Amino acid sequence: MEKLVISGGKSLKGSVDINGAKNSAVAILPAAIMASEGKCTIDNVPDIEDVHCLERILRSLGCTVNKLDNNTLEIDATDVRSVEACTDDVRRMRASYYFIGALLSRFKKARVELPGGCPIGVRPIDQHIKGFEALGASVTIEHGAVIVEAEHLHGANIFFDVVTVGATINVMIAATLAEGTTVLENVAKEPHVVDVANFLNSMGADIKGAGTDIIRVKGVEKLSGCNYSVIPDQIEAGTFMIAAAATKGDVTITNVIPKHLESIAAKLIEMGATVEEGDDSVRVYVERDLKGVNVKTAPYPGFPTDVQQPMSALLSIVPGKSLIAESIWESRHKHIDELKKMGATIKVEGRTAIIEGSEKLAGASVIATDLRAGAAMVIAGLVAEGVTEILEIEHIDRGYPHIEDKFTALGADIVRVIE
Ligand code: EPZ
Repeated sequence: MEKLVISGGKSLKGSVDINGAKNSAVAILPAAIMASEGKCTIDNVPDIEDVHCLERILRSLGCTVNKLDNNTLEIDATDVRSVEACTDDVRRMRASYYFIGALLSRFKKARVELPGGCPIGVRPIDQHIKGFEALGASVTIEHGAVIVEAEHLHGANIFFDVVTVGATINVMIAATLAEGTTVLENVAKEPHVVDVANFLNSMGADIKGAGTDIIRVKGVEKLSGCNYSVIPDQIEAGTFMIAAAATKGDVTITNVIPKHLESIAAKLIEMGATVEEGDDSVRVYVERDLKGVNVKTAPYPGFPTDVQQPMSALLSIVPGKSLIAESIWESRHKHIDELKKMGATIKVEGRTAIIEGSEKLAGASVIATDLRAGAAMVIAGLVAEGVTEILEIEHIDRGYPHIEDKFTALGADIVRVIE
């Protein structure tokens, strides 16, 4: 068992390099299986457990995966021999559902176990299924696996009922090798949707409009290997921005796309922090007392749901009342009970957390109930008086590369203990 042990109270200072985006990489890796010739060399891939899981799944399907360095993978999918992804790794993570779209697109059939992922509420895949069916596939669910099959895939007009990152990416992937043009409407506009579209285009796809409300996919006959670099992680960057403000530090966060961080920067500025934008960096520091704010999560370019939990740790030590209204996931406040163990005063009503900022938090033994909850507990531990130990950190390792090393380099007292 591994845990993080933090002695709180140190102000973070210095600069931290952000890794490639988890939520891009976890879609790009499955999509690489669509290249029927040549190799995909993908760099800026974060060294996280979700990526390791996908490497194993790719190998189990017959891909050759070479790790050229910690952040560069070379994937050769020319000899894929199986369209069945039914291992424990598939069940463990959410993004394994991108194998449904990718295998369907290239081989016109797939059998993929239903995905797992963070316990943050009901996570249906009805919009993925609706999209695959519109493209001409039959979709059934048997013994916990999704089975998709099509004689051939054809273009279609698909209007999503909800704005969904997963279904937008998955159906875009599936439409790439379909015959004719697919028009996707009411799509997600997150930076990782654009990144996956750019990756597919680098392999030879013809996708336009990613990042707007309508994506047009003109089907092509085949895809080939390419060289690609994953965009920086908006959520990892947001987490460090919040940690800088929470510890009243002065941190320059490098290798970011500042545009992707605007909603987070705006909230920190509203609280009283200073955020300076560089070309590919943001600097966050605090010169005056911060004040409480209200946060409502929303699809991009709104405030990201994935940064809401770290934000709750910051707001719990800022005087005054703050609200966090979670509009994407119905149950993304499980970490609040852990924050309360550290002295936070927070009430959850439905999807809203009502926070009365305390002067300080006190170290305690807490658990990371999910990935971003874990990041919230790290931030709480950094500002708390005394020692905080965070258990169940396998959730954190799924999405944050070498988190303790990065915080240590900024002056935090944080160690990983293996028991
Ligand atoms: C992605 O999840 C991310 N995960 C999540 O990040 C993130 O919270 C979420 O997008 C929203 O930004 C990955 O990219 C692997 P959705 P995803 O489809 O794709 C409803 C993290 O911390 N919905 O955009 O699963 C759904 O219930 C993780 O890194 C349907 O109703 O999310 C939710 O309310 C956690 N039917 C809303 O849409 C569907 O078929 C948004 O979900 C699909 C989704």
